[in-house]
Amino acid sequence: MARLSIEHLNKKYGDLTVVDDVTIDIADGEFLVLLGPSGCGKTTTLRMVAGFVPPSAGKLTIGTRDVTTLPPWKRNCGLVFQSYALFPHMTVAENVAFGLEMRKVSPADRGPRVAEALRLVQLAGFDERYPRQLSGGQQQRVALARALAMEPDVLLLDEPLSNLDAKLRQEVRVEIRDLQRKLGLTTIMVTHDQEEALTMADRLVVMEKGQVRQIGTQRELYEKPADRFVAGFIGRSAFLDGEIAAPGRFRTKGGLDIACGAATATGAATLALRPERIAVADEAAGCANRFEAKVEHASYLGALLDIHVSLSEHDRMLLQIPNRQGAAEPKPGETITIGWGQDAGLVYPRED
Ligand SMILES: Nc1ncnc2c1ncn2[C@@H]1O[C@H](COP(=O)(O)OP(=O)(O)OP(=O)(O)O)[C@@H](O)[C@H]1O
Ligand SMILES: [Mg+2]
Repeated sequence: MARLSIEHLNKKYGDLTVVDDVTIDIADGEFLVLLGPSGCGKTTTLRMVAGFVPPSAGKLTIGTRDVTTLPPWKRNCGLVFQSYALFPHMTVAENVAFGLEMRKVSPADRGPRVAEALRLVQLAGFDERYPRQLSGGQQQRVALARALAMEPDVLLLDEPLSNLDAKLRQEVRVEIRDLQRKLGLTTIMVTHDQEEALTMADRLVVMEKGQVRQIGTQRELYEKPADRFVAGFIGRSAFLDGEIAAPGRFRTKGGLDIACGAATATGAATLALRPERIAVADEAAGCANRFEAKVEHASYLGALLDIHVSLSEHDRMLLQIPNRQGAAEPKPGETITIGWGQDAGLVYPRED
């Protein structure tokens, strides 16, 4: 168990920088989730921490040890990958013991450590089975047991649940998190799944193009996205392009005049609104900003309705309204009144 510090980490392949000046401090026992689009450098970052990819620059510290140039087996990181990578010809116990054998742990010591790791992932008694005799979720737990048997200082999980179906994912998700808390393991997990990230993380890191865009709690990322990318990536946002004509006044490309407290510095800008901040029909009555909107498309999502509307030829946006029993569902072609307060939006420099 230890604190992990990643400082100014950089990775270049030829001329291409795939990890660009990444700095993240992870507290002892913290569960940090790395999120970002495909190819943004998540796996490369994890592999550098584990010692499988040498950094081009930067420093890695686990506890008080500078591990930047140490080989993987001296870093004591436990790794679990997307493909469980179990050896098919070895039993569960042999799979879990494999890393211990590599590290020359004596056979007498291996047995109890394997048993304890299997007990932790609730697979006691599965020792003699082969991977093909296990479900996907059980195989994933064997992979986790193999990492835990090493008694790692830091646990690194690279999309460990992506091979599982939705229901199993949720179960294993809870198991991993409980276990991580119980053992107080400093953990970094990579995932594509936002819900997974939001439910599991103590803090999240959003990466794009090799760079950290924002680090924060779920609430910080959702309510105060640092830039337009994060506003679109974490949860959903409606974006309106335009400019700030005067402090507090945002003018869209389509000519709508919007009262917006966040509009301070003048110039080309994008207004971002969370869909649930937009009120519809009677509920829009008291709002500082009110517009007639034409419904273009409506999707039924169970608890919510997604409504795409246009406010002008150039201004389109997404609303989400609760699906209330008996309430009329807006239909394409209908005109509805929508509104939001002047504190509802965030403003970012325009990226076009
Ligand atoms: N050995 C390599 N040689 C050259 N380029 C590489 C190498 N490994 C990774 N890359 C490139 O580095 C970038 C980051 O890759 P990485 O695997 O870290 O992305 P990722 O964020 O994990 O993506 P995904 O979500 O798809 O797993 C990609 O553009 C990838 O093509
Ligand atoms: Mg990856």
